[in-house]
Amino acid sequence: MNKEILKNTAQKMVAYGKGILAIDESHGTCEKRFKALNVAFNEQTRQNYRQMLVTTENIEEAVAGYILFDETIRQKTDDGKRFVDVLSDKGILSGIKVDKGAKDLALFPGEKVTEGLDELRERLIEYKQLGASFAKWRAVITIDEENNLPTQACIESNTHALARYAALCQEADIVPMVEPEILLDGNHSLETCREVSQKVWSELFRQLELLNIYLPGTILKTSMVLPGKDSENQVSDEVIAKETIESFKKVVPEDLAGIVFLSGGQSAKESTDRLQKMHELYKDLPWPVSFSYGRGIQQPALELWAKDPVANYKQAQQALLERALANGEAVK
Ligand code: G3H
Repeated sequence: MNKEILKNTAQKMVAYGKGILAIDESHGTCEKRFKALNVAFNEQTRQNYRQMLVTTENIEEAVAGYILFDETIRQKTDDGKRFVDVLSDKGILSGIKVDKGAKDLALFPGEKVTEGLDELRERLIEYKQLGASFAKWRAVITIDEENNLPTQACIESNTHALARYAALCQEADIVPMVEPEILLDGNHSLETCREVSQKVWSELFRQLELLNIYLPGTILKTSMVLPGKDSENQVSDEVIAKETIESFKKVVPEDLAGIVFLSGGQSAKESTDRLQKMHELYKDLPWPVSFSYGRGIQQPALELWAKDPVANYKQAQQALLERALANGEAVK
């Protein structure tokens, strides 16, 4: 593990005014998003859509890194340039999603554990050769108050896997983005989300410490503290901002390189406004706090492109750029 490389890469990922764009949807998720907008799902449409995303001009003003999927890191533009090279020419880092998805956790109905550790060492070596400098692994935690979920078993299984993945990344000088996503689904309260989030993050940092993970070369990607999307007691952006940051202050070590959010089903505007509120309220945080949105940045662009991939190509890129710049402004 080269700590200097890890630290420098992690700092670039969360450089002032910048964040990460996630375009790492697995085939299953991408198919769902395309089909919802009546777009055919095949290699060509995926290449065309992702080409639109990686060739958007000036996006480097607000985006420091793109998270790619196994297929995407190997793809090229119509004129034969690798996506990874298009990005690096603009000073943008390429990252790679390396988990193999969330599967049912045996003996724990309603809960998931993320798989993908088998042969990860070898896959990381290949991804590094292809140009990846950081990676992502997403664990999902479901809140279900009636059934007392999440269980300790689910939290420990997922955070342990995150730590093992992080160790393999750092061995290969790849910055691990460790992502526990506490799902927004359900009608749980803000208080429950706060309690679960703090519990998951504390356990995660315990596991990371146990496996000797170098925190200045690690990025936490996670969800905000907020009520379930079906809860009747929704709260203001200000409350979400305070609850989230105060929770981080309690359990996140100060030497972590940075924290970024997923949008997780919040609207594009909500995810930006809440991030902005955090920065309005807190000026001296120990870590950079930024974005790593997928839908939160892509959605308006995807909808335009889906209507007419040829006629709307430039307009979709404009929409993507606007969302990215708005988030860049939010973190300033
Ligand atoms: O793992 C989650 C994605 O990288 C971020 O996606 O912002 O659409 O939740 P999202």
